[in-house]
Amino acid sequence: MSVLIEASGLRLARGPQRQLALPDFALHEGERLCLVGPSGRGKTSLLHALLGFVPLQSGSLQVFGRARSREADFVPLRGPLGLLFQDPVDQLFGPTVADDVAFGPRNMGQDSAQAGQLALRTLAALQLEHLAERPVQQLSGGEQRLVALAGVLAMSPRVLLLDEPSNGLDEASCERLFACLLDTGLPMLIASHDQTLVQRLGTRILTLPA
Ligand SMILES: Nc1ncnc2c1ncn2[C@@H]1O[C@H](COP(=O)(O)OP(=O)(O)OP(=O)(O)O)[C@@H](O)[C@H]1O
Ligand SMILES: [Mg+2]
Repeated sequence: MSVLIEASGLRLARGPQRQLALPDFALHEGERLCLVGPSGRGKTSLLHALLGFVPLQSGSLQVFGRARSREADFVPLRGPLGLLFQDPVDQLFGPTVADDVAFGPRNMGQDSAQAGQLALRTLAALQLEHLAERPVQQLSGGEQRLVALAGVLAMSPRVLLLDEPSNGLDEASCERLFACLLDTGLPMLIASHDQTLVQRLGTRILTLPA
């Protein structure tokens, strides 16, 4: 099984005084690794560090077979590592849902028509086509989360980084989420407090100790 992400001895800088020490881990092809641990322990910080949004104080990080430490190492990962933010408001630009989901593919060079079709197909896979013309500010919390996920999936990522993906979703929406995620066949790193999600999706658990 090939290694996609490998981290050892990572410490993250969190403000001038704080450092977060993280356990060593690897993510392999075919895995869905669940990150669990108390609030404030560093699950979100770890996901953000994989994209260079939180600086590494020390340790070694390899992604797709290459060492990553400086900004230039992380830029090419923003796309192949598809991050679903813990707060979907951080992710949605709008103006409409369809525009928002098409934004990533357009940014990667697809023309408007292609990007628009891909956005609609991706929304349909999550049974969200009825929201396509809605302004993103007018979505419920759960709808925002699913639309943000559609935006991530439309970028054709190689690996998903999902930060509390089931937060705020009702049971039926969770079922759709699980089915859609499993359907992608993608490897994933999932930060979650949701035991049902961990049991249903996880192939392995990484616990960040208190
Ligand atoms: N922008 C920031 N600057 C400085 N410190 C931060 C920042 N964001 C978060 N922190 C701190 O970093 C630590 C880890 O936070 P993080 O959000 O990674 O935890 P978490 O495990 O994801 O928590 P939760 O389960 O509540 O989502 C916390 O102590 C938090 O207060
Ligand atoms: Mg978090």
